Amino acid sequence: GARDGGEQPRERRRRVLVFPLPFQGHIDPMMHLAGVLHDRGGLAITVLHTCFNALDPARHSEFRFVPVPDGMPADVAAAGRIIDVILAMNAAMEASPAAVRDALASALAEDGEDNGAACLVIDANLLAVQRVAREIGLITVVLRTGSAACLRCFLAYPMLHEKGYLPSQESQLYMPVPELPPLRVRDLFQTKISSHEMLCKVIARINETLRNSSGVVTNTFEALEPAELEKLRGELNLPFLLAAGPLHKLSSKKTTGSSLLDQDYGCIEWLDTQASGSVLYVSFGSLAAMDSGEFMEVAWGLANSGHPFLWVVRPKLVQDCDSVALPEGFEDVIKGRGMVIQWAPQQEVLAHRAVGGFWTHSGWNSTLESVSEGVPMICRLNAVDQMMNARYVENVWGVGFELEGELERGKIENAVRRLMDEREGAEIRERAKVLRRKVAECLDSSGSSQIAVDKFVSYILSL
Ligand code: UDX
Repeated sequence: GARDGGEQPRERRRRVLVFPLPFQGHIDPMMHLAGVLHDRGGLAITVLHTCFNALDPARHSEFRFVPVPDGMPADVAAAGRIIDVILAMNAAMEASPAAVRDALASALAEDGEDNGAACLVIDANLLAVQRVAREIGLITVVLRTGSAACLRCFLAYPMLHEKGYLPSQESQLYMPVPELPPLRVRDLFQTKISSHEMLCKVIARINETLRNSSGVVTNTFEALEPAELEKLRGELNLPFLLAAGPLHKLSSKKTTGSSLLDQDYGCIEWLDTQASGSVLYVSFGSLAAMDSGEFMEVAWGLANSGHPFLWVVRPKLVQDCDSVALPEGFEDVIKGRGMVIQWAPQQEVLAHRAVGGFWTHSGWNSTLESVSEGVPMICRLNAVDQMMNARYVENVWGVGFELEGELERGKIENAVRRLMDEREGAEIRERAKVLRRKVAECLDSSGSSQIAVDKFVSYILSL
């Protein structure tokens, strides 16, 4: 069957083109999907990638790579704000579609080794690329890297404005949105960094990309969001909407190859020396930033909690600060008990027996990675989909809780103890283990995500 790649003789494999949005939280799931299609489906892969956050082809010898000029203004690239980058990149590609057409043509050029490209799998934010693909008759499938609930929120965006939920008013933040249970106004997809108009534009373009596509693959699984997926299938009304996550668990690839920063594997050796379930892992993803006062509170809150911790302090974690300095005296206080690194092999860290909790910013990848390993969470959110991810973590799956309001060391200390030692924590930890079993089931040989991948491979081979 399709699973062993047996339907096509090896010398005439079908090729699939993939084009991720060049941000860590979007690159990883796309590269994992590519890995699954390659290893399980026996498909050849060409990765299209931009100069901005370019991938290193030498780290993926099994894939072919084609660079695409992104035409990004230097100031937008340097600031690296995701909404601005998405709009600038699409605008530049729309202004010179010939550059995209040439890149696609070069990706499509047969090298005698394969049987021609079946389709292009694109990130939902790459409408400009999809437009060119349509012109040249290339089928596109969208990989949506967030949750099903998030996708429903995108589709509902015009309604959310018509009904006055958005743009949100301070006084209505805790008002429920009955059209999208269990979300409240504050949980809707929003950003503090870019303007609301820009965000609306990005979401309208995502919706257009989805509707123009031949189908959608999402990085979630049936048992995690059953009601959301069912509603979404009706709302999207496309030939297919496959829930094929958690993609990192389906793929045998490690993230090392697609990590934009070097992952410090020294922390795994350190974790080996720690007691089972004792360590709190702390990371706020690739984009979130805090001010220096908040950073101090996090540092001392962790130190004072008395728990072992592994903390990712990436460059720029503190706003406008290229290299972040730890507070004076901090390293002496935490000696042996705490480790600070610039970037972690996060999936391996969460799978380590020593890790008993995750303080996260609730990015979708981090959430799914934590759920996959049965690690309970403290959620400290910033923007975009993180509020709704945390809402599901706390109120639907019960595998963590939100740390709300001002960041203050005493509050942090209490939250860490609440998650790691107390009775309430015990229930949360137990539910996390139960949810991990559901992940294992969807990954079983006849599990829902395996079936979704098989369907996708069969679809590709039928083109
Ligand atoms: C962004 C948005 O913020 C997020 O809300 C959205 O869902 C996806 O795009 P990001 O903030 O980086 O992503 O968070 P997340 O989705 O959690 O992705 C981060 C990725 O980086 C994860 O796959 C994680 O494993 C990886 N990571 C993180 C590391 O490899 N090492 C680290 O030290 C921290």
